[in-house]
Amino acid sequence: MSTALSPNGTAAQQPTDREFSFTQADFERVCRLIYARAGIRLNASKENMVYSRLARRLRALGQSSFSAYLDGLERNPASPEWQEFVNALTTNLTAFFREAHHFPILADLLRTRRNEPEITIWCCAASTGEEPYSIAMTALDTLPTAASRVRVLATDIDTRVLEVARAGVYDAERVAQLDPGLRQRHFLRGRGAYEGKVRVKPELQAMVTFRRVNLLDERWDVRGGFDAIFCRNVMIYFDKPTQLRVLGKFLPLLKPGGLLFVGHSESLHHARDLFVPRGKTVYARAIDERRI
Ligand SMILES: C[S@@+](CC[C@H](N)C(=O)[O-])C[C@H]1O[C@@H](n2cnc3c(N)ncnc32)[C@H](O)[C@@H]1O
Repeated sequence: MSTALSPNGTAAQQPTDREFSFTQADFERVCRLIYARAGIRLNASKENMVYSRLARRLRALGQSSFSAYLDGLERNPASPEWQEFVNALTTNLTAFFREAHHFPILADLLRTRRNEPEITIWCCAASTGEEPYSIAMTALDTLPTAASRVRVLATDIDTRVLEVARAGVYDAERVAQLDPGLRQRHFLRGRGAYEGKVRVKPELQAMVTFRRVNLLDERWDVRGGFDAIFCRNVMIYFDKPTQLRVLGKFLPLLKPGGLLFVGHSESLHHARDLFVPRGKTVYARAIDERRI
C-alpha cells in the first residue's frame, strides 16, 4: 500500500499492486468530468470504485494509463466513449416495489384520474426497469380496464441499464419476495436457456417506453403533462443547486394535482417554494396548494 492525500486533505491508502497507476490528480479529474456531464458528485470514499470500474474501460480500449484515457475523452467531446464513461460511474441499485409505501399512494392517485383520456407517469431514473415496471403493475392492478390509457415514460442517463430494462428479463430471485398473485399476473417463468429467470408480461412492457434522458441537460426530450413523476434515489448524487434546477424543471411538466415521489433520504426542505409534502417523501406542487 502507498499513501496519498484525499480531497479533504486526509491520507488515503492506495493499493500499489494496481495494473494502472491512478493518482490523486487522475481521481480528481474523473470527479470533475462526471460532475460536469451527469451532475454526479463522487466523494473520496469512491476512489477504489472509480479505479476498478474505469480500469475495465482502459483494458477494453488497450489504453496504458488513466491520464491517456482521460486526455482522449477531453480531446473529443463527441466521442462515444463518454457514454461508456458515464455508464461505468453510475450506481444503479434498485428493486421491484422499492420504498413500497409509495405504491398505494400512486394507486389512489390513479383512481382519482380513472376517467382521464390519458394518464402518464415519468420515472426519470429508471435504472434496470424494476421501478417503471412496478408503476405499470400498480396501474394494471388498479385500473385494469384503463391500462391502455396509462403510459409510463422510463428514462435514465445510463444506456446499459436501459437495455436491461427494455429486455424485461430478471433473475427469479429479484421477484421471490413479491406477492405470489402479483408475480403470477405480471411475470412469465423462463424455461430452457431462461431457467431461473422471469420475464415481465408483454402487456406490461407495452405500457412502458424507455429513453435516455440526462437530468442535467438544459433541454429534456419529454413532453410533460405528467400525473406523477418518480425521481427516486438519484438526487442524492446531485448537489443542492443541481437539485433545485431539476426540481424547478419538473414543475411545469406536472399536471395540476400531480405528485412527485422522491427517495427516502431526499427531503425537499430546500425546495419549499416549489413543492410541499403530501406524505412520506411524496410532494405536490406548491402552486396547486396555494390555489386550494
Ligand atoms: C440508485 S439508482 C435509483 C433507481 C430507482 N430510481 C430506484 O429508486 O430504485 C440511480 C439511477 O440514476 C441514474 N442517474 C444518475 N445520474 C443521472 C442523470 N444525470 N440523469 C438521469 N439519470 C441519472 C443512474 O444511472 C441510476 O440508474
